[in-house]
Amino acid sequence: MRLLVASCSLHPASRSRWLAAHAYDYLRGTGEDVAWYDLRDAALPPCDGAAAYGDPRVSAAAEVLRGADGILLASPVYNYDVNAAAKNWIELTGAGGWQGKVVGLLLAAGGAGSYLSGLPLANSLMTDFRCVLLPRFVYAYGDVPRHPGGGDPAPDLAGRIAHLGEDLRLFTRNLAEYRERERQRQSG
Ligand SMILES: Cc1cc2nc3c(=O)[nH]c(=O)nc-3n(C[C@H](O)[C@H](O)[C@H](O)COP(=O)(O)O)c2cc1C
Repeated sequence: MRLLVASCSLHPASRSRWLAAHAYDYLRGTGEDVAWYDLRDAALPPCDGAAAYGDPRVSAAAEVLRGADGILLASPVYNYDVNAAAKNWIELTGAGGWQGKVVGLLLAAGGAGSYLSGLPLANSLMTDFRCVLLPRFVYAYGDVPRHPGGGDPAPDLAGRIAHLGEDLRLFTRNLAEYRERERQRQSG
């Protein structure tokens, strides 16, 4: 089982990257095989539905996703949605990268009012790619530190990040086992 924590903010000092970094540290601490992916480093081209698919940076992004069974996607909330960079990454990598994956969300926002703003993305991942969305997400606003730097999370937020990490492990492992059992049952 391979896990991936992806930071989608392009901000040089990002709050959602700080959430992602702590989720990554938590998962590493459990001994899981977990990779880190940052859209700031990936510098993906905008999705034009055409030539961008041939860009080597897009092939590299697709490769990272192909190896992952469970993904934590961290994003800023922009205009009551994830940011355009997260959407662009998904448009570029499509079904080949996302089909059937377990996905959890960590969102950094400016206020409490956008609490449900991850749902359009959750809906599209479920309906487009049959992703299994974790029924819990981390939504943080207000006094959230920034990455790089930022220090450790307060106990309540650390607990919420850990809970999301545990759900990712549980869902991803059990779904893989279930699918393997089904495969064996169907092959007689
Ligand atoms: C273009 C833009 C749109 C935003 N839209 C929202 C919004 O709809 N709801 C909200 O709560 N915060 C909104 N914010 C505030 C960001 O979610 C907040 O600053 C967050 O910490 C950014 O995450 P980041 O630091 O990881 O980039 C917006 C910020 C920007 C720059």
